[in-house]
Amino acid sequence: MIVCSCNALSDKDVDAAIQSGVCRTAEVYAVKKCRVQCGQCVPGIVCRLKEALKRQRECVVESAEPAPCVSSCDAALASLELEARALESEQGRERVVSALAHGQPGF
Ligand code: FES
Repeated sequence: MIVCSCNALSDKDVDAAIQSGVCRTAEVYAVKKCRVQCGQCVPGIVCRLKEALKRQRECVVESAEPAPCVSSCDAALASLELEARALESEQGRERVVSALAHGQPGF
């Protein structure tokens, strides 16, 4: 299923990027060597990233192994949470989409 029509990104492309270790919205596009254009896909990709990171974090925390990556996962989740909140307002959405369109972190 196509999740970003401007860049022809599919849900499988996004999942593959996440599985490769991507944890920021801008990195999803960078992996596919593209940038945000209209921004319609950004909320869905942020949501998909958040859910994947939450699942990853739960797996790490549930394992008995030491988990040095939990803090970086928490930082990425906090950043995605801020990005998701910003996307809820017109002004915030414009700011996030503009940053991502210029290859910068959305938040
Ligand atoms: S749908 Fe992804 S940038 Fe337009």
